[in-house]
Amino acid sequence: MEQIKEIFQKEHDEQRQGEATMIESPIANDHARKLYIESYGCAMNFADSEVVAAIMLEMGFQTTADHKEADVIFVNTCSIRENAEQRIRKRLTDFRSQKITKPGTIVGVLGCMAERLKAKFMEEEKLVDLVIGPDAYRDLPVLLSQIDGGQKAINVLLSREETYADITPIRLNTNGVNAFVSIMRGCDNMCSFCVVPFTRGRERSRSANSIINEVTELFESGYREVVLLGQNVDSYKWVNESTNEVVNFAKLLAMVAQVNPLIRVRFSTSHPKDITDEVLQTIADHANICNSIHLPVQSGSTSVLDRMNRNYSREWYLNRIDAIRRIIPGCAISTDIITGFCGETDEEFNDTLSMMHYVKFNYAYQFSYSERPGTPAAKKMKDDIDEQTKARRLDQVIALQRGHSLEKLKEFVGQIHEVLIEGFSKKSTNDFAGKNDQNAVVVFPADNRFKKGDYVKVLIETCTSATLIGKIINE
Ligand code: 5AD
Ligand code: SF4
Repeated sequence: MEQIKEIFQKEHDEQRQGEATMIESPIANDHARKLYIESYGCAMNFADSEVVAAIMLEMGFQTTADHKEADVIFVNTCSIRENAEQRIRKRLTDFRSQKITKPGTIVGVLGCMAERLKAKFMEEEKLVDLVIGPDAYRDLPVLLSQIDGGQKAINVLLSREETYADITPIRLNTNGVNAFVSIMRGCDNMCSFCVVPFTRGRERSRSANSIINEVTELFESGYREVVLLGQNVDSYKWVNESTNEVVNFAKLLAMVAQVNPLIRVRFSTSHPKDITDEVLQTIADHANICNSIHLPVQSGSTSVLDRMNRNYSREWYLNRIDAIRRIIPGCAISTDIITGFCGETDEEFNDTLSMMHYVKFNYAYQFSYSERPGTPAAKKMKDDIDEQTKARRLDQVIALQRGHSLEKLKEFVGQIHEVLIEGFSKKSTNDFAGKNDQNAVVVFPADNRFKKGDYVKVLIETCTSATLIGKIINE
């Protein structure tokens, strides 16, 4: 699932979990029912919660950041690994107890776990009142009225068309600078380890016009960075029916970049088998398309990649890396790595380490393999690498990557970078924080000539393991 990443960097369940999402309701109304949403997993889930918020606001709901005062509690869930599901299940159990202290509270499970476990949540476990899959959010008004009528409610139908193109998301927890824009839904790839094709259904692309409209509105309301989201953005394809023009991902990127040179464009996630030189050239040609690509490798071994059904070899991946280096010199590359996939030998694992040495990723999300029920790997292969070996290999990958990440950050020291200010740093209002083009976090002393949403030139003076530190050098 080539999923997404602090804006990027926070999206996997390990990085970003259980954030309460506050909606600022336009009009305060003491009698409005209150909604609390908590989101887990990938950026796509966080973006979906913003669509759900828009639908609920339309129904007259207001939101709250305190689940204890909520009339409706929604948990937007992730199934990608078993430990994600376990954490969410525990959280749902906590919320169920609120039905005793505050009778009438409605608890709903949204997203991938809802899709995977369907009625089980309600029937066997009696955990929730509402189960709704990722393609069914338009049905919320109907389902909530069923609950008000004393029934339980479920809709887990997947769709071949739904893209929520016409719903303007209500931005949650927003800094007013960065926003996610969903450009497609679902995935047709069937990587053997991955549950996403089963929980999010078939791939479909959203109309380019609606994407451009959303980005334009974001820019006009002050946003300065969009992250285009899809499970596999490189297979984006939309045909303009009035002109017959085919818009592929490269064309879409160029269209979004042209909305305004002051808006930065990022995207996630790319697929090694599909990322084209045309996309790379489009990035190189537009100063506001960021030089940062998330290209999940999963494994450095061709035989493991075959078993994963990734549809590329080690050589193919290396060829894509070389193309990125040639066409976009200085482009940051991040990745996802899985250790201990079915049958992974020491030799195959060493191929992953040597791949890491070759590429020197700027950043990596690292996971040990977690078998997901119903996936091709669960059906056809044995999860035969013991937990100790998986963990030991994961530790090796993490240690190696830590060194590479630091080395990559050190390369920036002494350089001048353009940084988009996202706000004050987490630690102090004396400092601003933002990102450079390559998606690295930069912290520097605040300067009252500038505010969030502004671009500044920063001389990078030093770094920690995850952050660049510098000072503004604008005259
Ligand atoms: N086990 C471990 N990691 C997984 N991922 C997806 N499915 C699994 C699984 N069953 C990882 C992949 C993917 C990222 C979002 O999560 O690396 O790219
Ligand atoms: Fe990504 Fe493969 Fe899962 Fe699709 S099937 S979401 S490409 S890991």
